[in-house]
Amino acid sequence: MNILSPSILAADFYKLGEQLREVETAGVRYLHIDVMDGAFVPSISFGMPVISTIRKHTGLFFDVHLMIEKPERYLEEFAKCGADLINFHVEATKDVESVIRQIRGLGKKAGITIKPNTPAEAVKPYLGQVDMVLVMTVEPGFGGQKLIPHCLDKVRAVREMADAMGLDGVHGPALDIEVDGGIDRENVHLALEAGANVIVAGSAVFRGDAEANARALLEKMEG
Ligand code: DX5
Ligand code: ZN
Repeated sequence: MNILSPSILAADFYKLGEQLREVETAGVRYLHIDVMDGAFVPSISFGMPVISTIRKHTGLFFDVHLMIEKPERYLEEFAKCGADLINFHVEATKDVESVIRQIRGLGKKAGITIKPNTPAEAVKPYLGQVDMVLVMTVEPGFGGQKLIPHCLDKVRAVREMADAMGLDGVHGPALDIEVDGGIDRENVHLALEAGANVIVAGSAVFRGDAEANARALLEKMEG
């Protein structure tokens, strides 16, 4: 099943609650939450207080994307403030397996993320241990960038590796592959064709009429 995960990085924080209701009305079930530390990526976004506040008001599935150095330092706090799934970058820690184990130990879903210049093979050793692989389609750090086409080849490669391992939904649980950055209603079909099933969209949802934008994207993602 294809899933749309709107990124609140592009939302209007003055009316965040209203915008969340709009995307929920459109049929959205996931919310992509970008946490930046100003070290792993150049920018700083927001953290626990924002997440725990919105957690009180929505039942959306919180897909938290940690763009932070040494994510192991904060897993417990992100679990506590309402994350359902925690995505961290394989480039940000020395011990990927232990971070996966810790996330699972906290009762949350675990996702591993790769930047555009990290090869698809980097996720291979962990495929049987995670719920999701997030393939960045822009350099992490900012919303509103253009999709880097070669990243979709990595999506294809990860899907092939997962299928070969039986993580195809037939022989075992299907691996979720998420794409993030520069996705809009014109190019979303390319990401789906490459094998992604979870689509992040920031600007394409929250710039303008969030409800109408989300509906239009969901329609493109059907079937
Ligand atoms: C970038 C973030 C993305 C970003 C996507 O570092 O991880 O989630 O919000 O924004 P758009 O869809 O505008 O490229
Ligand atoms: Zn993100």
